[in-house]
Amino acid sequence: MTLIWIFILLVVLAALGALVYWLVVITEGVYLGRRAVVWMYDLTAHKYDNIKQFEEEAERLFVVRPFLKHLPAHPAPLILDVAAGTGRVPYFLLEEPSFNGRVVALEPSRKMLAVAVPKLRPFHQRAALVAGTAVPLPFPANTFHGVTCLEALEFFPSDEAALREMARVLRPGGSLMVTRRRGWEAQTFVGRYRDTEQFEALLADLGFSDVKTLPWQVDYDQVFARKG
Ligand SMILES: C[S@@+](CC[C@H](N)C(=O)[O-])C[C@H]1O[C@@H](n2cnc3c(N)ncnc32)[C@H](O)[C@@H]1O
Repeated sequence: MTLIWIFILLVVLAALGALVYWLVVITEGVYLGRRAVVWMYDLTAHKYDNIKQFEEEAERLFVVRPFLKHLPAHPAPLILDVAAGTGRVPYFLLEEPSFNGRVVALEPSRKMLAVAVPKLRPFHQRAALVAGTAVPLPFPANTFHGVTCLEALEFFPSDEAALREMARVLRPGGSLMVTRRRGWEAQTFVGRYRDTEQFEALLADLGFSDVKTLPWQVDYDQVFARKG
């Protein structure tokens, strides 16, 4: 009898452990609310860049250049990076010699922003850091030539509301570059997961055209679209 109770206890503990792992590690607190997600990024901001190990060449080849190619021609485009984290997209964009524009980095975690500050300091005349969340975006309609949002949409309270805001602040013809989470972990985002077809249909519903999905990383696709 005692062995059965020990077995049941172990099963319950294992189930609880798996639940906590899913809530905290895989879905990064998204089912606990926006504040929980941001709090977790505040906690881990100091080691984020070490974990991600961004490689300059890969960022240039697979993020910056494809985005610049997609951007409408403009001598000094204005770009918004939503959920900028520690400044990945702003930094690598501003490092790119062929980019003459300005970048606004929007990020709700003050600790993530604090890591971005020294990286963007050499470009201070062309970079602005804003503390804030994706909904609502604190900018007027039709402001930006391009909007980016990498590895973040799945952690927002609503990806749809965030994408609607991105569409609002983009100028007509402006470029969107976002990521869609994929793989088995993505499918555990119960009630939130969108496959390629569903994600592309959502963008089309929000008024985007030329929606194109490209494989990017193990866990993410890159999705490009144009406003209007
Ligand atoms: C995995 S990080 C990605 C950061 C950056 N885009 C990159 O590629 O390194 C996810 C980011 O989303 C931010 N975030 C979470 N909830 C958000 C929200 N509601 N609005 C805007 N950003 C949010 C987090 O603070 C975190 O910096």
